[in-house]
Amino acid sequence: MPASTEDKKHLILTGDRTTGPLHLGHFVGSLRNRVKFQHQYEQYIMLADAQALTDNMDNPAKVHDNVIEVALDYLAAGIDPAKSTIFIQSQIPELTELTFYYLNLVTVARLERNPTIKQEIALRNFERDIPAGFLTYPVSQAADITAFKASLVPVGEDQIPMIEQTNEIVRRFNRLANKDILVECQALVPEIGRLPGIDGKAKMSKSLGNVINLGFSPAEIKAAVRNVYTDPLHLRVSDPGHLEGNVAFIYLDAFDEEKASLQEMKDHYVRGGLGDSVVKARLEAVLQDLLQPIRERREEFAKDRGQVLQMLKDGTRKAREIAARTTDEVKAAIGLKHF
Ligand code: TRP
Repeated sequence: MPASTEDKKHLILTGDRTTGPLHLGHFVGSLRNRVKFQHQYEQYIMLADAQALTDNMDNPAKVHDNVIEVALDYLAAGIDPAKSTIFIQSQIPELTELTFYYLNLVTVARLERNPTIKQEIALRNFERDIPAGFLTYPVSQAADITAFKASLVPVGEDQIPMIEQTNEIVRRFNRLANKDILVECQALVPEIGRLPGIDGKAKMSKSLGNVINLGFSPAEIKAAVRNVYTDPLHLRVSDPGHLEGNVAFIYLDAFDEEKASLQEMKDHYVRGGLGDSVVKARLEAVLQDLLQPIRERREEFAKDRGQVLQMLKDGTRKAREIAARTTDEVKAAIGLKHF
């Protein structure tokens, strides 16, 4: 179905921190949507290397190396550079510049109340030793989104507070400028909630070591599935099983297309008489099928890193033109045009 002209008007800005290769949490949270949206909308996808530094300044090499890894994940997952523009955050100085102005539209107290930031601070045990850049990264995220005047932002649900802060900044700025220069945006969050880690923790995250990466080998997938958390009360095959919090079934819900036979399997599990090993065998088959073509495409693209870098260079040049135009407008609106 061709996209309507109304749809075409929407510009999408989205992205991921380049702190590690992407995993199934990213795939479900936003990547799968982006592969669809690129046919409907004008989509820009950002490798957030500058944001990755906000808690990795002690290891910039890790951030550098993961720029290409995440780019390979995008290409492998089906992001088509002819349809989506992929670019590198740190190569667009206008994004940093906008951040510096927007910082004055946000209070420290408001940043400290951002639920995602709060959670991440706890996860990293920062307590009071929070890098100022980390505390303020929602503002840089507002710069990313507004620089493109994006109206839609496909992200996982943990990013909703960033969208709310962005829109607060947009409204404050437009009021200050007395003109609708910046555009409010809307998060596009998938219906299926956040994917838990293989250990059953609420979030699949590299730092928690509970991930299945898009580039995992068949043996790594097998080992991860073996460790997937199921139902601790399901001790004997004959025992009735529980679906709630059962990661094997949560993953099957997310990835298994055969909904009818999956429902039969769930019913059987709940009645009793179905062993975890049968459920895990099905899950492994589904994940092997899902990840095999992704892994193969990844290996193919990885053979020519020069070509990947050229694609990023072209994407970044195109993206920078847009960001620079918005930055000019922003500066003019607040009197920062002196000559
Ligand atoms: N915060 C996002 C993440 O953790 C990355 C990101 C930075 C982003 N800027 C963005 C996402 C703008 C969407 C829009 O992965």
